[in-house]
Amino acid sequence: MARIIPVSSGKGGVGKTTFSINYAIDLSRYGRTVLVDLDLGTSSLRNSLDVDVNYDLYHYFRKNVPLDRCVTPLGRKLDPQNKYPLFGFVASPMGMIDEITNFHDKYRDLLIEGINSLKASYVVLDLKAGLDSRVLDFLPYTNTGVLVFTPHLPAAVYTAAEIVKAILFRKLRLIFTRNSPLYKMVSGLDYYKLFNDLLDRIEDTYDRTFINLDAFVTELEGAIHEERVVQFIRSSIKEFRIFYVLNRFNGIRESAESVVTPFHKRINETVAEGMPMMNLGWVVEDEEINRMNNLRVPAVLDRVTQTHHQGGVDDKIRELRQLYVGLGKTASARKLEKNTPSQAVAAPSGLDEQLQVLNTMYESESKKSYRDNFQYITLRTLYLIRERPVDHFGDIRLGRSHAELLQGILKREPS
Ligand SMILES: Nc1ncnc2c1ncn2[C@@H]1O[C@H](COP(=O)(O)OP(=O)(O)O)[C@@H](O)[C@H]1O
Ligand SMILES: [Mg+2]
Repeated sequence: MARIIPVSSGKGGVGKTTFSINYAIDLSRYGRTVLVDLDLGTSSLRNSLDVDVNYDLYHYFRKNVPLDRCVTPLGRKLDPQNKYPLFGFVASPMGMIDEITNFHDKYRDLLIEGINSLKASYVVLDLKAGLDSRVLDFLPYTNTGVLVFTPHLPAAVYTAAEIVKAILFRKLRLIFTRNSPLYKMVSGLDYYKLFNDLLDRIEDTYDRTFINLDAFVTELEGAIHEERVVQFIRSSIKEFRIFYVLNRFNGIRESAESVVTPFHKRINETVAEGMPMMNLGWVVEDEEINRMNNLRVPAVLDRVTQTHHQGGVDDKIRELRQLYVGLGKTASARKLEKNTPSQAVAAPSGLDEQLQVLNTMYESESKKSYRDNFQYITLRTLYLIRERPVDHFGDIRLGRSHAELLQGILKREPS
């Protein structure tokens, strides 16, 4: 079963496409990886990869070619020694075809169906910037996938916070739809109206009565005397995980000041306090990356020295003592480290802890090149995938119908 990892950002130009390509190529050393271009209309993947494409999303939508057959390998030109046989990408159509670029429900469902059935271990989605439904429909309800930030474009953190808020609102709206099983647990008042009126007021940023979802939970607590329900809603919010990478990294001070601190504050203010945030790593600013991009060659491919790994992940994870810094240590990771079995530790969520994580990473990673940066992020990804429940990072399938989505969300419903 594939793990689907969406890559998104608040703004364009932060390096999503560059990151997605190199990340997916690096991931493919550990398992079949398919990168899908969901920034339809800009042809960004095909413009960044010097490969001839036979079938793309045009053929999938219009000519009924199965999505697996629309996967293009790197080919001879980019990978002459066939070092990355497990990598492939699905290109978006050449140029803009309105019906595809601004796709509606039918194409969305078709796309979700295709992505869910891709034969791969990892599926990376290169999304468009911003937060309309063509982005939100491809994000899981339990985490952000990977958000890309750069200290060079600090305003992107505000839009990214809006993405987090938007996913959580979608999730809450779903939990509170008319036919939600949740209403079976509370009775008496018209709770449908109560919940949704409250959500409307929080969503309305001009209404300052309820500023964020913490206020929502407090209000709920006062209104309904059903601790199980309140607890479920509270954990639906608090367990939402935020993962990000810092692109064009230029030192910890800049990143702390222009990205980590403002993002953290923004989330606390406008979404909820204490949400788990995890920095997966960074990619340094390097003119080589830009130069290679212009040549349509992914930077990690240049001067390749390593072939793909078969199952060597455990060794790698042991090797990198700092690998899981800030991701929350699982019981098995702690065992590996200290030989003392203990409970899993939650990921740090305070700002001080976030900055501490950045500092600790810097001690081990500051001298490293962009290639090492991608490896570090890849290994942390694999660590999360292997050590954490499936919905903690990425997802195993994208939800299509409301019923399916609701089922997924409520599967942990208190009984
Ligand atoms: N780490 C980096 N170092 C140097 N240049 C970068 C880096 N990441 C991205 N770029 C450059 O930034 C520009 C925007 O990158 P791109 O991946 O197209 O962003 P997005 O997909 O978010 O719009 C490109 O010109 C790219 O070459
Ligand atoms: Mg892009």
